[in-house]
Amino acid sequence: MAKLRSVKGMHDLVYPESHFFRHVENCLIQVISSFAYKEIRLPILERAELFKRSVGESTDIVEKEMYSFTDRGGDELSLRPEGTAACVRAGLQHGLLRAGRAVRLWYAGPFFRRERPQKGRYRQFHQMAAEAYGLPGANVEAELILSNALAWQRLGCSSGISLKINTLGNAEERANYRERLIAYLSEHQSALDEPARQRLRSNPLRILDSKNEQVREILNDAPKIRDCLGSESLRHFDYLQTLLSEAAVDFEIDPHMVRGLDYYTQTVFEWVLSGDRGQLAVCAGGRYDNLVEQLSGNLSLPAAGFAIGIERLLPLLENQRADNPPHRQDASVYIAVSSKDAERFVWRFIAEVRRGLAEHNVLMHCGGGGLSSQLKHADRSGATLALIVGDDEVRERSVSLKFLREERAQEKVPIDSLPSRLRRLLPC
Ligand code: HAM
Repeated sequence: MAKLRSVKGMHDLVYPESHFFRHVENCLIQVISSFAYKEIRLPILERAELFKRSVGESTDIVEKEMYSFTDRGGDELSLRPEGTAACVRAGLQHGLLRAGRAVRLWYAGPFFRRERPQKGRYRQFHQMAAEAYGLPGANVEAELILSNALAWQRLGCSSGISLKINTLGNAEERANYRERLIAYLSEHQSALDEPARQRLRSNPLRILDSKNEQVREILNDAPKIRDCLGSESLRHFDYLQTLLSEAAVDFEIDPHMVRGLDYYTQTVFEWVLSGDRGQLAVCAGGRYDNLVEQLSGNLSLPAAGFAIGIERLLPLLENQRADNPPHRQDASVYIAVSSKDAERFVWRFIAEVRRGLAEHNVLMHCGGGGLSSQLKHADRSGATLALIVGDDEVRERSVSLKFLREERAQEKVPIDSLPSRLRRLLPC
């Protein structure tokens, strides 16, 4: 029979990797919570239409990468490829998003894109993301970016990541720029590669981040978005730069950065591996002032956010791994019993013992065998104490405590005083 394996590009996280992953995710959540962002939990499945209307019909994500299917009720559903659209959908559905009200939310979990799997690019990956609504100023983008910078510091990986920012202007300026870009690139069509030629009508801005050398050369003389921006957009972008400089957050302006999702307006940013030409972003985001209106039909609300790709952070955190080793101990307390009667006796007080030792792991021997073999398991578990219950202990309503890590005589403790004795021996 063929061996069952996980789906290509979707990975199991096995201990101790799972322990480290949880540590990194918790750090990111602590930092964003300290900016007063509140958690929202979103479903994994959404209507496919949500992403078509927000991420954009002619983006790679919607055109090629979504896992979509028609369910038994006939609904066309998709595994979420990203969270921004779903967060707006939920915010509208629950009346959180209202004119004149500031709302700050975060979410974390798995996302799905059927991309070609390679290092740092998976078909199931995990994001920790934040979205802020109702706040039109560049100070919100600055706040989001500062939270990223503090997260990198907390994780000890600041030197490995650098920030790139750009602006796309408002919808009108962007449309204007789109026309000028199409006009320029149409004159150079013969030198474009096939993907760029295809994008010329469907999504010309995406040509700006082409990796093809010949296309890049043509782009050098292409019109710049900055030349199409009005004074308000320029002021917005300049003020973001001022705030980042005040906070000593280094950045570089990348006039070719456009992002692969259609909903952005004004600021876009990416944190990329320093010196990396491969352009794998660890975190990306920006402002999307039109999305709420696009999805609600009647509510116009500014918004901005980011998403961190946790799998892409992990390789940068080798030093953190040493500071957060997986637990060497499986348990603090190991319970060994000589018979079924002894086991039943233990079950009378086990819940109380566990309640009193909530901070500690308690392992109950479940595999049978004599007391001496059970004590070998106890030793291997790394436990500090073994609780031994044999026939004598059952008769006397007591438990023997064996100290596994120090030269100290065994103690017999009546079960009534066991919880308090254990708490004294194993403080929280
Ligand atoms: P995105 O750039 O599509 O933006 O993804 C954000 C981050 O998720 C990327 O920078 C990367 O770290 C990670 N990521 C994306 N695809 C993969 C993959 N196949 N494998 C591993 N990691 C991946 C968004 O998703 C927007 N929703 C971000 C946002 C929030 N904008 C505003 N608010």
